[in-house]
Formats: sequence, C-alpha cells, structure tokens
Amino acid sequence: MTNIEQQILELRERLNHYNYHYYVLSQPLISDFEFDKLLAELQQLENENPQYFDPNSPTQRVGSDINQNFTQVKHEYPMLSLGNTYNEGEVADFYNRVAKALNTPFEIVCELKYDGTSISLIYEKGELVRAVTRGDGEKGDDVTGNVRTIRTIPLTLNKSTRQRTDEYEVRIIADSPNHQGIEIPDKFEIRGEILMPWKVFEDLNKEREAQEEPLFANPRNAASGTLKLQNASEVAKRKLDAYLYYMLGENLPADTHSGCLQAASAYGFKISDAVKVCKTLPEVMDYIKYWDKERKNLPVATDGIVLKVNSLTQQKNLGYTAKSPRWAIAYKFQAERALTTLQSVSYQVGRTGAITPVANLDPVQLSGTVVKRASLHNADIIEGLDLHIGDKVYVEKGGEIIPKITGVESSVRDLFAEKVQFITHCPECGTPLVRDEGEAAHYCPNEAHCPPQIKGKMVHFVSRKAMNIDGLGEETIDLLYRNGLARNIADLYRLKLLDLALLERMGEKSGRRILKSLEASKQVPFARVLFALGIRYVGETVAKRLSSKLKSMQALMSASVEELMSIDEIGESIAQSLVAYFAQDENKQLIADLQDIGLQMAIDEQTQPVGSDVLKGKTIVISGTFVQHSRDELKNLIEQHGGKNTGSISKNTSFILAGDNMGPAKLEKATQLGVPLLSEQEFLALIEQNHG
Ligand code: IVH
Repeated sequence: MTNIEQQILELRERLNHYNYHYYVLSQPLISDFEFDKLLAELQQLENENPQYFDPNSPTQRVGSDINQNFTQVKHEYPMLSLGNTYNEGEVADFYNRVAKALNTPFEIVCELKYDGTSISLIYEKGELVRAVTRGDGEKGDDVTGNVRTIRTIPLTLNKSTRQRTDEYEVRIIADSPNHQGIEIPDKFEIRGEILMPWKVFEDLNKEREAQEEPLFANPRNAASGTLKLQNASEVAKRKLDAYLYYMLGENLPADTHSGCLQAASAYGFKISDAVKVCKTLPEVMDYIKYWDKERKNLPVATDGIVLKVNSLTQQKNLGYTAKSPRWAIAYKFQAERALTTLQSVSYQVGRTGAITPVANLDPVQLSGTVVKRASLHNADIIEGLDLHIGDKVYVEKGGEIIPKITGVESSVRDLFAEKVQFITHCPECGTPLVRDEGEAAHYCPNEAHCPPQIKGKMVHFVSRKAMNIDGLGEETIDLLYRNGLARNIADLYRLKLLDLALLERMGEKSGRRILKSLEASKQVPFARVLFALGIRYVGETVAKRLSSKLKSMQALMSASVEELMSIDEIGESIAQSLVAYFAQDENKQLIADLQDIGLQMAIDEQTQPVGSDVLKGKTIVISGTFVQHSRDELKNLIEQHGGKNTGSISKNTSFILAGDNMGPAKLEKATQLGVPLLSEQEFLALIEQNHG
C-alpha cells in the first residue's frame, strides 16, 4: 500500500468515526470546523489521486448533482407488511395466539413503529453496496446514490467493534449476550425506516410555500418524495434520518432479534433507544401506554408500536401467512382527534374560481395547537358527512397540516339543526356557480370580474416562476385593486410612480423598484408569459410544451381543440380550457394590451436549438420515461442532430437513451450486446456541446 493510499484510508476511517459519534450517538468528538478541515484534506487527496476513489468515502455524502435513473432490483427476501391491531384486546389476542402456537416460554420485543418510508440496505464486507425502496414488496428502486447522503446510515461499518476501545463500544460489546456475534457477517441485509424529522419537514414546507411550490402533506410523503429525487445533492440538503429495525441474512450475529439489533448498533447503525424486551403481556401493555403519550415528544413521526417474537428460532417456527409474519404485529395509535362544534361553513374563492368550503369551529386544542378551522374539500365531502350547523364534529390532524373533519356525533344533533347546503352563487360576486361533470369542485365562472379571481390572477402573474416581479405582494395588490389602480394584469404596467408612492406603507424607493421590475419583465420568455396568464390547467410544464410546439400566442389563439390535443401530453381538459379562454373578448383584449405593452408573445427563434451532425450515423433507441423532454421532443432532437431513432436494440444500436423505469428485457439485451446507456442529462450534454 502506498503512503498516499494509507493516508486516505486513515482519514476516511477517522471521519467515519467522527460522523458516527456526531449523527448516530449525538456525541460530537470534535468541532465542526475541525471536521470540515479533515474532510477538505481528504477531498484534496482524493482529487489528486482519483485511482483511490470509493463511493463510500465520507466525501461522497454530499451527493452528485448528475441526474440518476433508478433501476429496479428484486428483493432477496420479499418486504412484507405487518398485520394491524387497534386496541389492547387485539394485542392480547396476538400474544395468546403466539403462546398457544409455541407452547414454550417466549419474549416479545416492543419497538416504535416509525412513520417514514422503508428501506432495505445490503452490506458486503462491511460496506454499503445497495439501498432499495420497498416498491411492491417483491422489487423496489435502487436508490443507493440518495441513501449515501443520509448521515445516520453508515457507508462503512465500524471495524472498531473489534479493534477500537472507545468507551461506548466497549459497553455495547460487554452488554452483548453473544460476544462472538459482534463479528460482522460477510453479507447481510438490514431494514429500517427513512424519516424526515418534524423540524426539517416544517422548514422545508416553509421554504416551499415561499417558492410557491406544492407543500408536503406529512413527513412520510416528504421523506419518500425526497428519496426519489433524481439529484442526490438535493437529497443531501434535505437532512433525512434513519432508524434500522430488522436484520436478515445467513450468518446473523445473534439468535435473537434484540441481539441482532444490539450488534447492529455496535456496527454503527442507528437503533432506537425505545426497544424493549418484554417477558409478559402486562409489560407489553405498559410499553404501549407509555409511548402513546411520550411519542409526542419525539423528533420524528411514529404511528404505532411493533411487537416481535424475540427468538429467531421461534420466529421460524411460527412462520408467515401469505402477506405477513405470524411472529410480529403492529399496534396502531389512535389518530389524535378532538370533539368540537361546527359554527358555520365559509367559502373561499381561489384564483381559478375554484370554491373551497371551510368549516369554522369552536376553538379546540389538538396535538399542541388550537384548531379553529378545518378543510371540507368539496360538496361531496359535506354531503357524505351529512353536516348540520351546530353539529358536534370530530377533527383530526393525522399528520396532515390542515386538520380535517372525520366524523359527526349525530346522536346529539339538535332536532331543528340546519343542514349545510353548498352555496349556489359565488360569495364574492354573486355569479351562479358551475360544476363540470366528473369534477369535485364548484367554480365561479366570472373570471374577469370576480374580485378574488382578479387579485389571485395578479398575485400569480407577478410570482417568481411567472413574471417574477419584485415588491408586489398580496397586500400591495389588494391595495392597488381596492384603490382602483389595477383592475387587471395589464393595468400593472400602467402604474405611475406617484400611484405607488402614495400607497400605505410604500415609499418612492419601493415604487421605483416595482416599476423597474415591471420593465424588466418585458424580457420574460413567452412560455412563462403564457404560464403567468393563469389559464386553468396551464401550469409551467404545459405552458412550456405549448410554447415550444406552437411558438406564438397568435398560433395558440387560432388552434382548435383537435389541433391542441394532437400535441404530446395535451389532453382534452387543457385543450378545452384554452379554447374557452381565448373565446372571451375580455381575454382577447387583455392579450392585445399585453402585446402593445411589449411582453414576449412568441418564442425567440434565436435561442432555439440549431441542428448539428454530432449524431450522424448513429442509431439510437429511446427507452423509459424522461424528465426534461417528452419522447417526441427527444426524437426531434435526435433527428435535428443527424441521428436515427429506432425501436429495437440490436448490435447496430449506437446507444440507448435511457430514462426511468427502462424495461428489464431491454436492459438485459443492452447488457448482453454491450450497448451503452446514456441518461437524458448525458444525451443533452452531448448535443449541447455541438450547438451552433
Ligand atoms: S418490522 C416482517 N419494525 O411498518 C417485519 N417495521 O407494516 C418487517 N415499520 O413496511 C417490518 N417501524 O416500513 C418493523 N420497528 C419497526 C417498524 C416497521 C416502522 C414499518 C415498515 C413496514 C411497516 C409494516
């Protein structure tokens, strides 16, 4: 071994050790500054000596920002689910069933049921080799690149369990009922739950709100969404955590589940402190009672308790049903709910005219906050609950941000209580509401004159992803509207400095900033202008597609429903919504005004991609699904750059443009024939270099 290699290996081991103490044990050994210094030192050595690259090096925790595709992998042991119980009686039934089947003394390990997304990790020779999502239980997505960024998941296991003598590790070894068992098996699988801590979840949603991105409903969705991000460096920023709870393999370190967890803890995995070995049913019940309350103080979400027979031999004897083990069961916590009174229902009008009913409640305490309002979603939900004013209703949070009404105590309903009738007219402008067939929501069709729709459209128009106009927040727009200074989006461009400067809480300086930003927005590309108009169903992606296909507002305005539907990914609702929008005189006038003002009403041909012959003579197969372009667009790009697109793989195929979920048959054929795969990103980079 060279001196340099030795140095690199030592640095890696030291950094792994510090990382373990910091993240898994929450007992930092050195300052962040010292850690960063050592990491930078390692990074430099690795950069200078790329032959010693290791995907499990601590430098790799930051994740690559090259888009990855997830391939599907079959689980060696299928990932089963657990039977559920909901009360103490059902838990006792499970206990007695096990007792009867085993007919010998047994122990039950109680654990928390972490509410995240499950993961299977494979380790070989002490190194993480693969991380796979649950998928359908038989096969899942290989998300190793993303999982490497989770700091509580060890990339290299603690060799120190044998060599080093840190106080903590000595204690674990000494505590272990099976000293020899500490040897790390050559190959094993360990399963656990990837979680987004509450705090990280809340911060992430705050950030998404500010960026006008859709919010995650709960930390579980946020964790699984994050794990599927294509860009590992984005995953690294999301600060996921993980608890491991189940070890599988041929040569496990112990013959009990608790022994395996203890060994896993010594290897460097994060194992919950809440694991408890119980010898009797009352002990199990105490555990449940204790954690039902105490879980509210945990930094991560839990939704129940898992009970497992401790002895692995007894587990084997009990076996499995088709869906789940007979040796384990979940007890699900009751979602926290509160009983309160429905005072009234109010109706909000969104920017597209969609009406959202909201329940106004007598204030009530629920999971640490006071709840006064709950979402009712739409008329069907109200009908389903058979809601009456004055009803005693149950509100639940269930991990969602906005509480919802889950039931009505109709036994205590007042005889003369008034049934909640969904409104027939817009509460803001009085226009009769419409409800399209098959749609859950009611709409106010008075797009051009209904105040919240006009204001909502303006707010959308100026937002960051649309025209990105600084200084015009919701409040300012409200003021402008109420003072008659802006009645539609074109009016925004007619504002004078004096108009703005005289508004409440506004001065000349802010006024100038707004005007400057409005002026700059005249350069915003056509696709974003189209998105900014706020036409129903025309989101960012649809706007981009329309702009690249039709190229101008004029072409878009004269397109029929059929023509629009012939465009890839444009369906009937979108097409009809566009045609209806452009049929209205007010909208035609608005577009004419915006054109006069100088907004971009066509794509700038200058920035359009030009052809090249970089793919000349190449035969390319497209397979899978893609992020940035549709298949048709990719076909066009291949042709524009001189290549040929074909359907099936042969020895003449130059490469496969491979997206997500490429079929396994194609993958196998490609491997057999040695045909290389290019990701969408790599393909784009290839043609990008050769633009005119
Ligand atoms: S053991 C065969 N232990 O709950 C037993 N699962 O419905 C495998 N979960 O998919 C699971 N905390 O995602 C086990 N302490 C825990 C758990 C746990 C959460 C999840 C896991 C699994 C689901 C079972």
